Amino acid sequence: MQNFISLVKIDEIVQKIKNQTALQPVVGIILGSGLNGLADSVQNAVYIAYSDLPNFPVSTVHGHVGRFVIGELEGKPVLVMQGRIHYYEGYTMGEITLPVRVMQRLGIPTMIVTNAAGGVHPDFNPGDVMLITDQINLMGMSGLNPLMGPNLDEIGPRFPDMSQPYDRALGDIARKVAKESGITLREGIYVGLSGPSFESPADLRFLRLAGADAVGMSTVPEVIVARHGGMRVLGLSGISNKANLDGSTITTHEEVIEAGKVITPKAEKIIRGVLRGM
Ligand code: HPA
Repeated sequence: MQNFISLVKIDEIVQKIKNQTALQPVVGIILGSGLNGLADSVQNAVYIAYSDLPNFPVSTVHGHVGRFVIGELEGKPVLVMQGRIHYYEGYTMGEITLPVRVMQRLGIPTMIVTNAAGGVHPDFNPGDVMLITDQINLMGMSGLNPLMGPNLDEIGPRFPDMSQPYDRALGDIARKVAKESGITLREGIYVGLSGPSFESPADLRFLRLAGADAVGMSTVPEVIVARHGGMRVLGLSGISNKANLDGSTITTHEEVIEAGKVITPKAEKIIRGVLRGM
């Protein structure tokens, strides 16, 4: 499939979802590696497998389920993406951000995005949760921007502003919720790389010098597409491992999934609190 996905194709998917539920979600939630648990507590849930949707990419990664869960969390109608699609799976930038387009055509104004990330900030430890305050679009800087190709004028402008990728008011709610729940909330800048190989020690020292606090293989393209359509975004990174700046340890997907078990309850508390406070 091409990078550009037409409104007609997006709306075919949207129609199929609308045929299965009358619920109008107000928040779209994307769950990252090892953080899928929250989808299981959605109430009155309708499940729609990605494989049942026309032209929809299917997530191939272990630890990712691959379906929309539409229902209620904290009394708010939500659409949860249980399992995201990554660029390294071989899909195009257009395909990996198609779910965000679907959210926009469903009329969802707010997105909460979570991911597993390596902690580049020296003080970050596995199990920490980080509020994403800004992002570095390293993939875009090397020519991989999801908005390349014809612009979807019905959704947003050709040259969208990126001065506030992550909504400050939503960040404030997350900080307040974390404080009230006794959760230490880290804050910092997320850099998105394509993966799937983890970073070399020199990569990591470079990223740290560039201002990164956490590194992962997702989120940045999704947030660009969300902002293109004017959605407000809250981003949370679960720090699953410490960046290996001197090459003394190795990083594995298994430790990313394991750390998710510690991170999920904290991220869930914050997301629930934000939903209540919105
Ligand atoms: N690097 C990139 N992506 C990741 C990491 C990492 O160390 N941990 C979890 N996702």
